[in-house]
Amino acid sequence: MPIAPATSAPLGETLEALHRDAVARPSAGRVADYIPALATVDASRCGIAVASLEGEVVTVGHAETGFSIQSISKVFSLVLSLQRLSDGLWSRVGMEPSGQPFNSIVQLEWEHGIPRNPFINAGAIVVADTLVSHFSASRPAFLSFLRKLSGNQRLMVNDDVLASESRNGSRNAALAHLMKSFGNIEDKVERVLDHYFFQCSVDMSCADLARSLLFLANRGTQPHSGETICSRRDAHRVNAILSTSGMYDQSGQFAFSVGLPAKSGVGGGIIAIVPGYGVIAAWSPPLNAHGNSTTALWMITRLAGQLGLSIY
Ligand code: DON
Repeated sequence: MPIAPATSAPLGETLEALHRDAVARPSAGRVADYIPALATVDASRCGIAVASLEGEVVTVGHAETGFSIQSISKVFSLVLSLQRLSDGLWSRVGMEPSGQPFNSIVQLEWEHGIPRNPFINAGAIVVADTLVSHFSASRPAFLSFLRKLSGNQRLMVNDDVLASESRNGSRNAALAHLMKSFGNIEDKVERVLDHYFFQCSVDMSCADLARSLLFLANRGTQPHSGETICSRRDAHRVNAILSTSGMYDQSGQFAFSVGLPAKSGVGGGIIAIVPGYGVIAAWSPPLNAHGNSTTALWMITRLAGQLGLSIY
C-alpha cells in the first residue's frame, strides 16, 4: 500500500533544503583509504535521490555523479544469486546480524566457515562464489543485471578501483581461503575474488541506485517495466536482512532512528528502501567508524523523520 509522506512541501523543495543543511554541517568522518583508489575521491561531493514507485526521480546535489558502490553491490548480487539458487543459498550463509565489523574474520572460525549474513564481506564472497558457479561469465552477467535494473546502459566498472581492490585484498582473500577450508567455497578462490572485487568496483549514481532498487519497495517487481526481479517472499527476506544487517554493527541504531531496510558502502553511498513508496539513495564519501557515510546517514535519518517513513 503506498504511503503518503507526512509533509505538504513538494519533495524537490524538501530535498533541496535537506542538502543545503547537509553541506553546511561541519565535516565529520574519513574517506576510506584501505582501498587506496577510493581515497582519491573529492570528499565534498554530496547528493541525494529519491525514486518513487510512480516513476518520479528527484535528484539534488551530486546525485547524478557516479561513485564506487562497494558493498551496496551485495544487494544486487544477493538478488541475482537467489534467482538461480533460491533456498539453496541459506545453507551456506546465515541471516543473523554479526555484531562484528564488515570484514571481521574471527566469527568465521568459530562458526565453521558459514558467514552470519550475505552483507558482511564473508557472506558476499559466498554469494559471489554462487554467481561464479552458476554463470558462464559472472562479471558481464552482473553488469548487465545492473544496466537492466537502472535503465543506464553506460554503467561501467571503475578499473582503477578494481585494480586497487585486487592489490589490497588480503583480508578478503583470507576470508575466502578460510571458508574454502571449511568447504563453503566451491570455485577457485581467485575466480571468486575476481568477481567480488569487480562487483564492488562498479560506479553508479544515487539516481541509478534509487531507480534500480525500486523492485524491493514493490514486492519484487520493477514498477516501470512490470518485470518480476524476485519473488514477493525473497523481496521480504532481502528487506528483512537489510533491516538487521545492512548497516553492519550500526544496524540496530539505524532501525531505532530511521526504521528502513538499508545498505551502505565504503564509497560513501547509502540506499534505503521505503516499501510501498520508493527508494532513497544518498552519497557523501567521509565515513564513520562503522564504515557508514556520516552525511548520507544524516540526510536519510532526517528525511525519514520529516516524511514519517519508518516501517515500524
Ligand atoms: O571488500 C571490501 O572491503 C569493500 N570492497 C567493500 C566494503 C564495504 O563497502 C563495506 N561497507 N560499508
